[in-house]
This record gives sequence, C-alpha cells and structure tokens, in this order.
Amino acid sequence: MTSDMKWIEVNSYDEMSEVAADIFTKQLQAKPTSILGLATGGSPVGMYKELVKRQQAGNISFNDVITFNLDEYVGLEQSSPASYWTFMHENLFNYVDIKEENIHLPNGKAENLDAECVAYDARIKEAGGIDLQLLGIGVNGHIGFNEPGTSFDSKTNIVELTESTRTENAIYFDDFKDVPTHAITMGIQSIMNAKEIVLIAFGEKKLEAIEKLKSGIITEDFPASQLLNHPNVTIIYGGTK
Ligand code: PGA
Repeated sequence: MTSDMKWIEVNSYDEMSEVAADIFTKQLQAKPTSILGLATGGSPVGMYKELVKRQQAGNISFNDVITFNLDEYVGLEQSSPASYWTFMHENLFNYVDIKEENIHLPNGKAENLDAECVAYDARIKEAGGIDLQLLGIGVNGHIGFNEPGTSFDSKTNIVELTESTRTENAIYFDDFKDVPTHAITMGIQSIMNAKEIVLIAFGEKKLEAIEKLKSGIITEDFPASQLLNHPNVTIIYGGTK
C-alpha cells in the first residue's frame, strides 16, 4: 500500500477513545479557533466523554471552536430524541463551553433540501474549512451516510439509507418503521477537504471493514477507501473476532 494512512491498533474501546481524544486535545491546544468535523454513533461517545472531562479540568476549551457535523436525518425535528442534533447536545455540547451559534448540523427539516446541501458546504468553506474531521465507519464501509456506490466527487447531498444502515441505527428508535429513510450528509469530497481525518472503529463487527480498508483497494463500492488518497488520516481501531 502506498498510502500515508497511519494505523493505531488499540486493545479496548476506552483506549481508542483516549487516543482519539489526545489528537483532538493537541489540535485544540495548537489552534483554539479550530474548525472541527464531528460524528455521531456509538464510536465517538467515549471520546466525547473524555473531551468533556478535559474541558472541565481546564485543559482545553471550545469557546472559540466551530463545529460541523457530518449528517442529520431528513424529516426529524431538531428536538427529536433520535436527531443527531440531540445526540450531539447530550453527548458533548451541553457539557462544554461551546457557543451555540458555532454549532452546525445539516438541517434535515429544511424546506428546500437541495439548497440546504449547497449552503452547508458553503458554510464550511466560509468558516475556513475543517481542520480535523472525526469519522466512524459503517460495516459496509460507509462514511457519514455515504453508502457504497457514492461518487467520490460527492458534495453534501440527500441520500436514501440502505436497509443495512437503517437496521444498524434502529436501536435509537422505538420502532424500525420510525427510522428515517433519508438523510442529509456531507459528501465524500466534502470530507476529503478536511486537513486531517481521524477514523475510529472498535469491535468485531467493524473488523471486516477495517480489513477491507487495509487491503488498499480504492473503489466507490467501499466509500472509506477514498481515505487512502488523503494525505493525513489516522485510523484508530481494535477488537477481536
Ligand atoms: P457507530 O457508527 O459509531 O454507531 O458504529 C459508525 C457509522 O456507521 O458510521
């Protein structure tokens, strides 16, 4: 593999969270006005806990930080318990010194969703571009909600969720039928524009995706493989079969 991708294997979810939190801590200490790209899901919860601890201990501050989340469901109110807006507030924003006006998630309730997609990329650009982007990975290799087959040139766009992704995310809803069918997600190109990327993945279910990424084959059938073309990506991963 010719890629510069950096691989860090860890022994536990907690270790993954700490190593990822270290990278974010360094970033915030070096540049207190950082533009961060953030993600939802089970993978980042531990890292967010760690960042909350470090902020409350005074080691880092979010006071001048601007955040952009990867994605949001289409059709859910911000205040819905299953929205990514709620997730981010309950796992990070409510406990750190970030300014509410510096928090950005795509608006899945926008009247004109296509215009919202264009505006979201424009907002990121206007802010100066993402310094450090956090990613999880789907078992099918998705990043954000960019499912297999997504063009590597994609910008923020509306996607129909695959059955596999809706099933993975059903745990956050009372009923499978409540899981939205569409989402608004930063595109693969929008993600690749970040100056630095950290991808975290822990557990047996994720290993196959990690192995595929390690194989070095770059294909739109496996969205995360485009990261192999990025100059500054760290993969923090672990878990046993
Ligand atoms: P997870 O999801 O962190 O909940 O495993 C990651 C993803 O599907 O991108």
